[in-house]
Amino acid sequence: MQWRHQNHAPQIATGYDWSRFPEIVDVGGGNGNLLTMILQAHQGVRGRVVDLPPSAAAAAERFAAAGLADRASAVAGSFFDPVPAGADAYILSDILHDWDDEHCRKILAQCAEAAGPGGTLVVIEPVYGHGSSTGINLFMLMCFGGKERLVEELAELAAESGFVLRNSAAITDGRYALEFTVK
Ligand SMILES: C[S@@+](CC[C@H](N)C(=O)[O-])C[C@H]1O[C@@H](n2cnc3c(N)ncnc32)[C@H](O)[C@@H]1O
Repeated sequence: MQWRHQNHAPQIATGYDWSRFPEIVDVGGGNGNLLTMILQAHQGVRGRVVDLPPSAAAAAERFAAAGLADRASAVAGSFFDPVPAGADAYILSDILHDWDDEHCRKILAQCAEAAGPGGTLVVIEPVYGHGSSTGINLFMLMCFGGKERLVEELAELAAESGFVLRNSAAITDGRYALEFTVK
């Protein structure tokens, strides 16, 4: 996790045009590391992290320490419950591969509901062919009950919640970014 934060988050923050989205919700955004880097790289963007209470508290501390309290906040909650609605983009970074299809459907449904028609979801995670392998898949299954997926599998899963895949591309040397909009 530490290595990933140090190496991937800066690339994700600068390698994607987040400035298109005035308000972002990072769903399961952990301690706010990625959102902090995105806001530091894109001055016109505001954001919120939604995560379980201990992580949300850590994120709030991080935003304050980074001088971002006026643009960033943390919401303690579960992504299996409604998440803050009406943001311009929602992020799921390294979330879906922690979960089986049934749980992913529930997380994606909450994101679709919050984003609303025309809203955007950016899924960032390893995919087969870029960052994933059979070995990692077994590890995710044994440790989390999760699953590594193909781009096509993520697109099919997200389509069940009304998401249409608009584009997908490598964003770091081990992560893909898949941008969806709600029909
Ligand atoms: C692998 S970490 C990814 C963190 C961050 N998105 C990133 O890319 O570094 C998974 C995150 O999901 C959060 N999480 C797990 N269950 C959750 C739930 N039910 N609701 C919200 N967040 C949850 C964890 O607290 C953790 O921060």
